[in-house]
Amino acid sequence: MIYLDNSATTKPYEEVLETFLKVSSSYFGNPSSLHSLGGNIEKLLEQARKQSASLLGVKGNEIFYTSGGTESNNLALKGVALHYQKRGKHIITSSIEHPSIKETCQQLEEHGFDITYLPVNSFGRINPDDVEAALRNDTILVSIMHVNNEVGTVQPIKRIGELLADRPRTLFHVDHVQGVGKVPLDFYECHIDLCSLSAHKFHGLKGTGLLFVKEGLKLSPLHSGGEQERRLRSGTENTGGIVSSAKALRLYLQEANEGRERLRQLNSYVRKQLSEMEGIEIHSPDENIAPHIVNFSLLGLKGEVLVHAFEENDIYISTTSACSSKQKKPSSTLLAMGKSIEKADSAVRVSLSFHNTQKEMDTFINVLRHIQMKYANVIRRAK
Ligand SMILES: Cc1ncc(COP(=O)(O)O)c(C=O)c1O
Repeated sequence: MIYLDNSATTKPYEEVLETFLKVSSSYFGNPSSLHSLGGNIEKLLEQARKQSASLLGVKGNEIFYTSGGTESNNLALKGVALHYQKRGKHIITSSIEHPSIKETCQQLEEHGFDITYLPVNSFGRINPDDVEAALRNDTILVSIMHVNNEVGTVQPIKRIGELLADRPRTLFHVDHVQGVGKVPLDFYECHIDLCSLSAHKFHGLKGTGLLFVKEGLKLSPLHSGGEQERRLRSGTENTGGIVSSAKALRLYLQEANEGRERLRQLNSYVRKQLSEMEGIEIHSPDENIAPHIVNFSLLGLKGEVLVHAFEENDIYISTTSACSSKQKKPSSTLLAMGKSIEKADSAVRVSLSFHNTQKEMDTFINVLRHIQMKYANVIRRAK
């Protein structure tokens, strides 16, 4: 099997599975219980929090555990919207955010919030000047993703953070789910107030994520009840998931320096091979790009057909993002970048991990050549 769908999810590290099993079997107490079984797991949770914080360069009390990227994004946006709505009801975001941001914004619109969706250029990048122009006295939040999950474009987070630095009434949220480890991000230096992460994107387990909330910031909770996570996220903690996510983050960041370099090499190799093939258009830009994503079209062949043709060869890629791929809609990110519906419809995403190899890339390219030959008639007819 060649797995090239790491933006959808990654294979958990063996050590992560072992930690999950150990915590779930030996430390199965409820952290809120008064007895020692509860106290022991509570200590492990706090250690995990401190470790994750130190790996991310922030303070322990700034980490709140959630069920993943979707929940972190919802909590950031709705938590700010509910808490600060008296201050203003205007939010700025981009037109290529993950559905967990886009649809949260749409929901907030139904509740009277005014959302500005910034355009992107043909590289999928927003212009910080557009952020500046969109800011109003009632803007309570700017939410911009760090790395786009479909094409890999890196947004100018530092520049946007600088623009907002002297506007304490406008908070800055960054969806860092695709960026972590692949494109370094200093939360403090970039003046970020809220930042979302998801463990299953860095070889942790599904159902665990975190939200960085800058010290002193208040949010309205989405879940009320047991007062866990300092009242911001009630509900008995996913203890095995949380403790193993800290391990995943440590192991992942340990291999990130070398891993990024390997990704860069594999990425430029794949891009070179693709650019030498006829009938291929690469949609991922070649600058300001995360090293793990290459988005391209085999022109004339639907992305869905290409995904299944690869699958027949035990190679796993995807069309758009995992959550949108079943909707069979052309990628809204590519449309926002000015690509035609046909191109958006034929686009596929290859997303690498630190563990993919040159040999796998060679096989991938060879299989692509075979698919191109096999579907030559379909491709010719589409022209
Ligand atoms: C950029 C981005 N944000 C948020 C999410 C949602 O994360 P989760 O799957 O943990 O809910 C994803 C998942 O693909 C993503 O790519």
